[in-house]
Amino acid sequence: MDSLPRLASSSDKKDVLNFCQNTFSWGDYIHEVWDNWINEGHLIVIKNDQIPVSMAHAGFYPDEKMIWIEGIRVSNNFRKKGLAQKMIHYFEGKAKSQEFKISRMLIASENNPSLKLAKKLGYKIISKWNYFSLESKQISQQNTMLSDSCLIDCEELDMEKYNFIESWRWIPLTNERLKKLNSENKIFCQKIGSEITTLGIITESESFENTVILEILFGTELETMIKFVQNIAYKKNYSKIRILTELESLPKIENLENKFPFYLMEKKL
Ligand SMILES: CC(C)(COP(=O)(O)OP(=O)(O)OC[C@H]1O[C@@H](n2cnc3c(N)ncnc32)[C@H](O)[C@@H]1OP(=O)(O)O)[C@@H](O)C(=O)NCCC(=O)NCCS
Repeated sequence: MDSLPRLASSSDKKDVLNFCQNTFSWGDYIHEVWDNWINEGHLIVIKNDQIPVSMAHAGFYPDEKMIWIEGIRVSNNFRKKGLAQKMIHYFEGKAKSQEFKISRMLIASENNPSLKLAKKLGYKIISKWNYFSLESKQISQQNTMLSDSCLIDCEELDMEKYNFIESWRWIPLTNERLKKLNSENKIFCQKIGSEITTLGIITESESFENTVILEILFGTELETMIKFVQNIAYKKNYSKIRILTELESLPKIENLENKFPFYLMEKKL
């Protein structure tokens, strides 16, 4: 067994996907993201007899001094031997050497082994997120015209409180990022007078196939916002919408499915 993780190469894909098929009750998503993660870098494996038996990926965010650790997988026969721990320590070491301050990951609330792993390594739950899925759908003009998104000023928002979710990564929302999202028309915002009453961020996932992510920050006009996104996704030929929010419930909308919750976990490095 390799004593240290090493960078994965494209030729590891087949062996890795072999042990990343039925990871969860619903399957796994590694096959969707592998090529993007290889291109992005920071995709690691540990090998036994030259065959990968574990993998993990990290996104590095120098502006926010943060790493995001994701896709930790250990092949069944090689679990409980410290491999996951080794991969996480590897990334934390890289991050610390660049003077990053935080490491984050997302763990499904029902994934006890992973929660134990993260807690053992010093990660704390900082928020709980609910995950809903929905199909795209054409909505009549009348409904969607209601909701012209409007620009917001950074000063209007207490940004410390919020994260921006990019391809299932929770990144602290900064002024720069908010400005960029604004200029790309990715913010859905409704106001009454100067008060923001409904706020969401709509992104097209770079790593996940065919998916629009709607992050709901807060809102009184949730149904309008969700239908607006359903329609945009339909027009842009996306079939899947993933809604992520700290809210516990959403308005009743046809085919809106409430999936399991996730914990956002963080460790100060
Ligand atoms: C979760 C997972 C990555 C752990 O990998 P691993 O290499 O077996 O973990 P490690 O051997 O490094 O374990 C380190 C610590 O994690 C915890 N842990 C790991 N597996 C556990 C289990 N099945 N039950 C309870 N605690 C567990 C323990 O605290 C353990 O420390 P200990 O050995 O001193 O008790 C592995 O089970 C896996 O691939 N699961 C499926 C995919 C998954 O859930 N990925 C994470 C998504 S966020």
